[in-house]
Amino acid sequence: MSTRVVDVDLPDRAYEVRIGRGVLGEVPEHARGLLGEKAERVLVVRDTGVPQRFADELVQGLRDAGFAARVCDLTPSEAVKRVETVERLLIEAVRFGLTRVDAVISLGGGVVCDIAGFVAASYQRGIAVVQCPSTLLSMVDASVGGKTGVNLLVDGELYKNMVGAFHQPTMVVADTALLDSLDARQRRCGLAECVKHAMICQSVPDEDETHAGLLGWMQARLGAISAFDRETIDELVERNVALKASVVAGDERESPEARTGGRMLLNFGHTFGHAIETLDGVRAGDEPGLFHGEAVGLGMCCACAAAVSLGLCDDSVGASLRAMLDAVGLPTRVEGLPGSDVIVERMGHDKKAAGGSLRVILPEGLGRCSIVTDADIGAIGAGVGVIRAD
Ligand code: GLY
Repeated sequence: MSTRVVDVDLPDRAYEVRIGRGVLGEVPEHARGLLGEKAERVLVVRDTGVPQRFADELVQGLRDAGFAARVCDLTPSEAVKRVETVERLLIEAVRFGLTRVDAVISLGGGVVCDIAGFVAASYQRGIAVVQCPSTLLSMVDASVGGKTGVNLLVDGELYKNMVGAFHQPTMVVADTALLDSLDARQRRCGLAECVKHAMICQSVPDEDETHAGLLGWMQARLGAISAFDRETIDELVERNVALKASVVAGDERESPEARTGGRMLLNFGHTFGHAIETLDGVRAGDEPGLFHGEAVGLGMCCACAAAVSLGLCDDSVGASLRAMLDAVGLPTRVEGLPGSDVIVERMGHDKKAAGGSLRVILPEGLGRCSIVTDADIGAIGAGVGVIRAD
C-alpha cells in the first residue's frame, strides 16, 4: 500500500504527516534527513501498549542510521499524565546526554504523544519531536497540531491538560499497521474523534472543498469503518488528518478571537466530555469508567441537546450524531452520573482556563458548529440530561 502524505502548512514550521502500513520503518531515514548529521541521540518514549517488535524495529533502524537510542517506557493513564512523569523523562534525557540538536520520538497513544511532546517542548527550551502515533485517536488528533502537556491535580481534583505548550512536531508518522493490535474499545475511541471532525466539517476553512464532504463520506461507509477495513481506515486517517491540518494551519494557537473556523472548533464535545471523563462511578458499557473517546462522544450528544434548548438547531442533528455513534458502537448514555449541577461546575475548570467565560462549541446544523460564549446554564444542564441512563 502506498504512503499517503498530508502537509501541515504552518509558516516556518511546515511538516508532513505520513500515513500507511509500514511507514514506521521510514522514521530513521527521515529523522536523519530532518535532524541533520550533527544529531547523535534520540530518546524514544514508548507506550507499553505498543507491541515490542515495533519498538525493537524502530530502535534498530535508528541505530543503523547512526543514532544512539534510549527507550523510556510509559504505561498510559490520566494519572501518569503528570508533571512528575515529565520530570522523570527530563532527568533521563540529561543522563542520556541529549542535546539541542537531538530529538525525542514518541511511539504511542494520545497520552504518550502529549507527554513526549511536552518533554521535547521544555527540554533545553525546546528540541525536535517526531510523533509516531499508535492509536487511531492519536493519529487523527493528538499527534497533529502541536498541543502538548499534562494534567494537574489540585486539591484532589484533576484538571485536564492544564499545563503544556504548543510545540509542533518535526514530522508525524502514522503507521496504520499499529492499529491491528488495538482492542475494540480503543478503536471505537478513535472513531469518536473522527465523528467529531465530521460534525464540524462544514465550518472548517476549506479552499479546495475537500473537508465539507467528510460527514457524507463517513455516513456512507459506517459498515466498513466499524469493521476496520484496512483501506477504508487508511483513507479515514488521511481525511481526518487533512481536516485537522487545515484547522491548525488557520489558527495554530487556538485564538479566542477566531470566532468561526478556528481551532476551538476541535473542542466540540470536549467541554462536556472533560467534565464526565474522570468521574468515579460512571459506566457506559460492560467496563467501568470512561475512556476519552467515549466521553467525547457523550459530550457531543450533550452539546446537540443543549443547542436544541437554545434554539440553535433541531433534534435531527442529535439524532444523526447518535446514529453514527451507535453504528460504530460508541455509547450515547451513561450510568452513574451525578447531578447536572456537578457536571456544570466541573465544566467550570475549562471556564477558568478560558479566562472566566464558559465557552462551548454547539451545532447549528449537521456538520456545522460555532462557538457560544456564556451559554445559559439551564440549557447546558438540559444538555447533560440527554446522556443520563438511570
Ligand atoms: N485536540 C484539539 C486540538 O488539537 O486542538
